[in-house]
Amino acid sequence: MSGLNNPKIPQPKITVTGRIPDAGLDLLRSIDGSDVWAWMDDAVIPTEVRNEQLADADAAVTLLTDRVDDDFLAAAPKLQIVANVAVGYNNIDVDACTRRGVIVTNTPGVLIDATADLAMGLVLMSTRRLGEGERLIRSGTAWQWSMFMMLGTGLQGRTLGIVGMGGIGEALATRARAFGMRIVYHNRRNVDTEVEQRLDAQRVDFDELLATSDIVSLNCPYSEATHHLIDASALAAMKSTAFLVNTARGPIVDEAALVEALVNGVIAGAALDVFENEPTVHPGLLSLDNVVLVPHLGSATVETRAAMATAAASNVVEVLAGRTPHNPVSG
Ligand code: GLV
Repeated sequence: MSGLNNPKIPQPKITVTGRIPDAGLDLLRSIDGSDVWAWMDDAVIPTEVRNEQLADADAAVTLLTDRVDDDFLAAAPKLQIVANVAVGYNNIDVDACTRRGVIVTNTPGVLIDATADLAMGLVLMSTRRLGEGERLIRSGTAWQWSMFMMLGTGLQGRTLGIVGMGGIGEALATRARAFGMRIVYHNRRNVDTEVEQRLDAQRVDFDELLATSDIVSLNCPYSEATHHLIDASALAAMKSTAFLVNTARGPIVDEAALVEALVNGVIAGAALDVFENEPTVHPGLLSLDNVVLVPHLGSATVETRAAMATAAASNVVEVLAGRTPHNPVSG
């Protein structure tokens, strides 16, 4: 890679605040003269250790479990870049970084397929009651095939409503089309005509999406504007036979309202990869059979996590060489 060994700072200190795949660490270590310090534990780094390692850091590589706020930045007076190993960057106060001249980057693109695969898996798990079936067998309860046992909902001819038609939404729509689903989406702007035509997708307003979708999938970023986008009234506007799938960010859904809706049959079911107060899960969800719960696995494949680490490290390489990074984000 050209310019890799040519940082503007002679011996840049790079602090990696969480355990990341070797592909990313190797790339950071290949920067000429670099001093790479990495927290090598899966547990979240203690603040004192983090601050000690940020004191002379020129670059920080962060995970979505890090809060990059004024306290973080105050501990890192030399910092030039925060490279988040995630597409979402709601863990970072981008405005605070911008005020201090710190560039923020994320890792879009490389996790699209993995996350769309997981979202499609959750669609299937919830509509075909796969978690419930698994729990039944594991519980040791006696069972016997019968005509009416655990009937689910077929996908063919059903409508998938995608909230947030970026790369992941589009990849999910491609998968859902192969299952014979119709696609509607809600987005700030239209997607390319070519994409709309290929997916036979129709842009609708949020209310229409809620009212007409058999499955509502959340694929939008989390921000103040999307906080509790799915609240009690949004849930009430959905079909009573509909399912909600969230692979985006937990606080887009008002989890207490979701529990009420699932208990009272306001919607048929839900599947969640992300949680409002992650890693805590609302206790009301734990006992419900009509919800699938998985622990934030959207991008969790060996290949994708290596690609994410490499993408974040490449952003560091660019910034330390005085170039524009591949994936800058703004507040
Ligand atoms: C995962 O949730 C990500 O934002 O990359």
